[in-house]
Amino acid sequence: MSTIVLAYSGGLDTSVLLKRYVLAGHSVIALTLDLGESDGTAGAGASAALDEVRAKALALGASEAVLADVKERFIAEFAYPALRANALYQGVYPLSAALSRPLIAALLVETAHRYGADSVAHGCTGKGNDQVRIELAVRALDPKLKTLAPLRDEPLSRPDAIAYAQEHGVPVGSTLAKPYSIDANLWGRSIEAGSLEDPWNAPPEDCYAWTASPDKRPAQPESIEITFVEGVPHFEGLQGAQLVAALNGRAGAHGIGRIDMIEDRVIGMKSREVYECPGSVVLIAAHKALERLVLTRDELRCKAGLDQKYAELTYDGLWPSPLRTALDAFNATFAQRLTGRVRLRLHQGSFAVDGLQSPFALYDDGLATYGHGDTFSHSAATGFIELWGLPLALSAQVRERAFETAT
Ligand code: ARG
Repeated sequence: MSTIVLAYSGGLDTSVLLKRYVLAGHSVIALTLDLGESDGTAGAGASAALDEVRAKALALGASEAVLADVKERFIAEFAYPALRANALYQGVYPLSAALSRPLIAALLVETAHRYGADSVAHGCTGKGNDQVRIELAVRALDPKLKTLAPLRDEPLSRPDAIAYAQEHGVPVGSTLAKPYSIDANLWGRSIEAGSLEDPWNAPPEDCYAWTASPDKRPAQPESIEITFVEGVPHFEGLQGAQLVAALNGRAGAHGIGRIDMIEDRVIGMKSREVYECPGSVVLIAAHKALERLVLTRDELRCKAGLDQKYAELTYDGLWPSPLRTALDAFNATFAQRLTGRVRLRLHQGSFAVDGLQSPFALYDDGLATYGHGDTFSHSAATGFIELWGLPLALSAQVRERAFETAT
């Protein structure tokens, strides 16, 4: 008999796990996190639904059911550092699920310490990235804590889970009807399985919940403005979790943020993933555009490579690595200049940055203009080309000479 902290979503799988642990005589602390997953807009319905999850855990025999609202912590400590790195895995996926796992691990460890538990448990299967991310993060925080992954050790088929649930009074509810595997938080919603498993099948409209279908999008474009103050976004008086939720709503209404990709998982296989990430894709694009305005060419080139590394570390479960911390420190050095306004035009599933302004802009009217008031030194360009091309001219001359001598 031991005390186990179980990451509990309220779904069929983790409910069966909870019941099994209780019947085996363990004391189970069910841990449920509010990451803003309910609708991407942090609506009022979210907390009520999570209260029900908590009540369900207690009804199934959990000795304690902990519900933690970690939305602000998620944005401040995970999503925004990733935003500073413009983090997109394989160039497209904003890493919503990947960023939440080290936070889930942190809460598992903190709860285990609070209740004197000897192990933590999660419902990840052996096929995914999430087991890797959670377990690496738990180990980094407390190497002595044991992690249990019952669905990896003994995969539970859907019919078996349902049979067990029915036999042991675990409510099955609406989970039966859902054809997809969904994971969601403020940074995005991921949709897997069902008909999506065949990459030739276009994603059916019913897999989307945060982004409007083409026939429901406004006919007119909409302009929005995001302001950055030292790298921190502000939108219509909002910040943090509320800002991201509001952007999910605004960009989602135009059908923005749908991603359909073949993705390379850490464990070696390719999978077909569909995402809806309206808020995060818009924020990353706005941040990137402001960087282009205020950072030097060399800074941008160097940062682009390191940004990609940042996304890979996050995806691969290496969030707790010292390299990620070092990259955060690197990214923090740009924050001071990342102040300015970004205007975006949202329309029919796509968006574009169409206005930029910053007191730190390196863009200079006098240098750039083709009209009056040109301050650029055109004659200096002649000398520049002379010297910049010197190695090319030299090597051409040498080749020609050597060729003549040889023949
Ligand atoms: N493939 C994505 C990732 O690895 C999404 C994972 C979603 N997790 C889930 N349990 N459905 O980040």
